[in-house]
Amino acid sequence: MGILIKNGTIVTAIDKYVGDVRCTEGKITEIGTDLEKSSGEEVIDASGQYVFPGGLDPHVHMELPFMGTISADDFETGTAAGVAGGTTSIIDFVIPARDEDLMDALAAWHDKAAKSVSDYAFHMAVTWWGDQTADWMRTCVEEKGIPSFKTFMAYRGAIGVDDVELIEVMKTARALNALVTVHAEHGDMVVALQDQLMAEGKTGPKYHALSRPAPLEGEATSRAIMLARMTKEPLYVVHVTCVQAVEAIAAARARGQLVHGETCPQYLLLDDSIYDQPGFAGAAAVMSPPIRPKGHQEALWHALRSGTLEVVATDHCPFNLHGQKDMGKDDFRRIPNGAAGIEHRLALMYTAGVMGGRLNLHQFVDLTSTRAAKIFGMYPRKGSITVGADADLVVWDPAATGTISAKTHHHKVDTSIFENFETRGTCSSVIVNGRVQYSDGNLKVERGAGRYVERSLP
Ligand code: URP
Ligand code: ZN
Ligand code: ZN
Repeated sequence: MGILIKNGTIVTAIDKYVGDVRCTEGKITEIGTDLEKSSGEEVIDASGQYVFPGGLDPHVHMELPFMGTISADDFETGTAAGVAGGTTSIIDFVIPARDEDLMDALAAWHDKAAKSVSDYAFHMAVTWWGDQTADWMRTCVEEKGIPSFKTFMAYRGAIGVDDVELIEVMKTARALNALVTVHAEHGDMVVALQDQLMAEGKTGPKYHALSRPAPLEGEATSRAIMLARMTKEPLYVVHVTCVQAVEAIAAARARGQLVHGETCPQYLLLDDSIYDQPGFAGAAAVMSPPIRPKGHQEALWHALRSGTLEVVATDHCPFNLHGQKDMGKDDFRRIPNGAAGIEHRLALMYTAGVMGGRLNLHQFVDLTSTRAAKIFGMYPRKGSITVGADADLVVWDPAATGTISAKTHHHKVDTSIFENFETRGTCSSVIVNGRVQYSDGNLKVERGAGRYVERSLP
């Protein structure tokens, strides 16, 4: 059974027009005006509403084993929360343990992800360098549909790599026409500051932020850019949070280096006063890099508008305050790093970006869907409203309002870092692979309906 969306204002990264969209067998099959309903077709009246391409979140961690626990949303609940908020595909990170066979880790991720309700792809994290690593990277690109690799300059002694390993990853990726993505923080300096603060008896959540100040991110971003320049490898910097990193990316782009930057709603909308909440509550916002002092947020908005930053992802990686985050109640170094975000990315960006006068509708679509699809080799199948694209669509009611709360969200976690945030605009219907999976507040997802998307870069 197909779907006919009637009379919506169709908005893509470049176009805006009123029209109808027909979806048949999971694909967009016709776009026009006054399209007639075919027999058996479900009609969605989108008059007065927008029709956007489904959101693509290229930075999520579902059921990630990390810091002695596992992130709280699995692939089913996490992708379902995404659908409830208009995100219809994700790219998760396969993260092997140090010394683990990358192909074994990939097989384990495929097992976990098979229960996704919407489509998914993977980046491969290279967490160590050994005799087989280059071959595994080649297999990822040539046989597994994974042309992007993740490196962590932080998390030393766990999943982090040193510069020698990072250079090998970049050289190998360059030869494979693959893209290296990087978590940029000066890992050794973080450890030194953590140890110093703990020795001074500073154990609470706010010291997490003080152990990872912005200059450490700025330095690592600059270093990664320099290494990418020397190896002639393009670079994608994940979760950019601060002025220093933005300036490094802007300078690289100005001299013609291909460097992409991503940020997340929490870095645009929160400041480090979140760590001053009473007791242990600030632990909910312990993530790396941390939420920054006031001032950095406006620089990030500026960078989105100017194109220095091109993607808004979430780094969705939730941990419960009770039972997970509290592993670190006497030692901030043991608080699992990460927070939930996938459900509210579109609503927050629409509210603060579009309604806040900071972004136009095309920038909103580009930042939350189209650009990531292009950078990571999923366009036009994802991120577009064109005949032949996957029928992943959001019907967006601009008049609706909402309030974010852990009591009502679909994330499987006991807190929200955006608790009580008021939002404007919401999905009235979300179509995933040609099926309505969310409508008027009700999720109708199907465990396992998501498909693995193989990618290749142009
Ligand atoms: O704190 C975070 N960001 N947790 C997830 C892992 C990562 O660094 O992206
Ligand atoms: Zn990271
Ligand atoms: Zn991450």
